[in-house]
Amino acid sequence: TNKFLTKFKGCYFGNTQLNLEFLENLDDFEIRDDDVFIITYPKSGTSWFQQLLSLIYFEEHRKGIGNLETVDRVPFFEYNFRKMDFVERPSPRLFATHLPYYLVPRGLKNKKAKIIYIYRNPKDVMCSYFHFSKNVTLQVTSSFEEFMEQFLEGKVLGSLWFDHIKGWYEHKSLFNIQFLMYEEMKKDLKGSLSKVCKFLGKELSEEEMDAIVRQATFQNMKYDPRANYKNIIKTRYGLEAKGHFLRKGTIGDWKNHMTVEQNERFDKIFQRKMKDFPLKFIWD
Ligand code: PPS
Repeated sequence: TNKFLTKFKGCYFGNTQLNLEFLENLDDFEIRDDDVFIITYPKSGTSWFQQLLSLIYFEEHRKGIGNLETVDRVPFFEYNFRKMDFVERPSPRLFATHLPYYLVPRGLKNKKAKIIYIYRNPKDVMCSYFHFSKNVTLQVTSSFEEFMEQFLEGKVLGSLWFDHIKGWYEHKSLFNIQFLMYEEMKKDLKGSLSKVCKFLGKELSEEEMDAIVRQATFQNMKYDPRANYKNIIKTRYGLEAKGHFLRKGTIGDWKNHMTVEQNERFDKIFQRKMKDFPLKFIWD
């Protein structure tokens, strides 16, 4: 067992900042029609999309005049770093969460609110996760090889990647949900942005769209402390991380981590678990 994890109804959560009472009452959490949720498995583009959503909804952010951190506009749902009172928040409320489909508030299943599910190829997710755990939150001392076993067993925050994405995809008809791929955002951010704006019913001008794209680039976010979790990590873990939350932001970095054997083993498991799964992935 890992002292940083708590298991709740079959899913692993991080201990830090976890409010079990909140989790226990999640089903009844009142959802509003104009709430928007970003749902991800960890390390799949959550913070990137938090930035995008904040830029879409807040003009002062687009214009660079507001000074709030992105997480103050798009807070994490189950890890409430700022101890916000979500009930008091003005609409539209924007949230990010790693919850599995079966634990979310009932209102979401009644198609109140909109959900954007971001997914990323799981080899890159795993590598990003390894660095994050080892160098940012210092929760892992193991080798990449050992981490890969934990990842494939689902003994990490968020549990098993395969279960997360399949659960959400297979139950998508219950929700008002749009799937979006990290790699597509990477290849054509403006295209992904248009898609999302359409889904959200947000009409933005070309100039506004360009301003959003500019402020959501990897480089911009990496050096903007309001966008890159620097302050959060410091207060949350009480440490100055040796690695950066925005590490590389590329497609195919798994090739720099996995051996041929590890890759073959991963492929075998992937093929077995994801047989007949209709979403495609981009690996490089
Ligand atoms: S978390 O902890 O679950 O919220 O992490 P998450 O934000 O989902 O994932 C972190 C990875 O996303 C990358 N990232 C980006 N890539 C491209 N462009 C932008 N703007 C961007 N912002 C964040 C971040 O670098 C992490 O991936 P790796 O591969 O480790 O660099």
